[in-house]
Amino acid sequence: MPRTGLLRLVSGEAKAYGGGPMVGFSGNFGEQILARAKELAAISEDDGALTRLFLSPQHKAANDRVAGWMRDASLSARVDPIGNLVGRYEGETPGLPAVMLGSHLDTVRDAGMYDGMLGVLTAISCVEALARQGRRLPFAIEVIGFADEEGVRFGSAMQGSHAIAGTFDPARLTMQDAAGIAMSTALEEFGLDPTAVSGAARRRQDILAYVELHIEQGPVLERHGLPVGIVTSINGVTRLEVTLLGHAGHAGTVPMDQRQDALAAAAECVLAVEARCRAESGLVGTVGVLHASPGAINVIPGEAHFFVDLRAPEDAPRRAAVEDVQSAIAAIAARRGVTQRSRVVHELAAAPCAPWLMGQIERAVEAEAIVPFRLPSGAGHDGMVIKTIADIGMIFVRCAGGVSHNPAESITAADAEAGARVLLRFLEAFKPEPAHGR
Ligand code: GLV
Ligand code: MN
Ligand code: MN
Repeated sequence: MPRTGLLRLVSGEAKAYGGGPMVGFSGNFGEQILARAKELAAISEDDGALTRLFLSPQHKAANDRVAGWMRDASLSARVDPIGNLVGRYEGETPGLPAVMLGSHLDTVRDAGMYDGMLGVLTAISCVEALARQGRRLPFAIEVIGFADEEGVRFGSAMQGSHAIAGTFDPARLTMQDAAGIAMSTALEEFGLDPTAVSGAARRRQDILAYVELHIEQGPVLERHGLPVGIVTSINGVTRLEVTLLGHAGHAGTVPMDQRQDALAAAAECVLAVEARCRAESGLVGTVGVLHASPGAINVIPGEAHFFVDLRAPEDAPRRAAVEDVQSAIAAIAARRGVTQRSRVVHELAAAPCAPWLMGQIERAVEAEAIVPFRLPSGAGHDGMVIKTIADIGMIFVRCAGGVSHNPAESITAADAEAGARVLLRFLEAFKPEPAHGR
């Protein structure tokens, strides 16, 4: 099918741009990136499905595999105190401030193979292209494989980027996963010291910018016939953890008007979330986890436990929705004689991308003869946290049908290559913001 917005996808050596001629790709980086994503997808706790959670043995194995690719591409590689994989390619002289690239290596359950991994693998391929030419830039490049963007294991997301930004909250160490394992224990099992997480923090003066390439996870680029897009901002998010306590009892004997069914109350809460978010454009709300106990077919559920994920492009409507949802839960619980507790376990403000970085990414897109197109991100990304120590920019790559957080997630090698070429061009022409370090 013709891709109308893609005027001309340059292959092989490309024209001069910015500070000098582009080193160019050999033309097979798209294939290499896809092959590596497939290899990484096999590192999973589930047979036949991709699930790789923060601080799991599979997380360690993925770090090892990606560290190997980093070293092959002439990056040094180390694991930092929270489990992020940190690769570094020095600039013209050692120790220069760095442009930080990357994305995450953890996944949701039954995930697609590109969400996160594409950004890490593409960044490595860009460094490989530079290193093959023996080329050093006037700044270092760091490639981060973030440890915990999804937050599936402990509910609270982005612990990897929080550690790097110096905003990791040590109270998080007591959070438990579904098996009751605390984050501090998980860190120890991973071979890390939970008292040393602050050592992962980076200084603002050492990071010139953070630029993440990621699959779009939505249908907009496909609809416009474009392989890549320039992200303008990332929607803010709040996650609530809710517990409802009713009364367990016999499914056959307790009359319907004498029940305190925690799961029935939770069901009403789920619908209240849906109704609130449907009523306002831009606002989205999801209950993706709901557990009822004791969990027997003939027992009235005495307890229900669920998480609510609320997002919006602007912070004020999201905060208003959080308040409304919490009030609705309280009202539903009161009416049904159930007690309730709800607390915020994760919250990040909407994160605008820096105009100066959007401009430089846009020039790289144009240099690839691709129509520049700007769009916001509905999904969360580590940049939302890294923005406290560096300006952020993002490049989206088209994915089939906009499908993500689903094993059907799919991209083409040509689009992976286009994304890599844009990122490489961006790096080659990169100029720090004049105010950096001041
Ligand atoms: C991560 O993909 C998120 O947006 O929750
Ligand atoms: Mn994701
Ligand atoms: Mn992601």
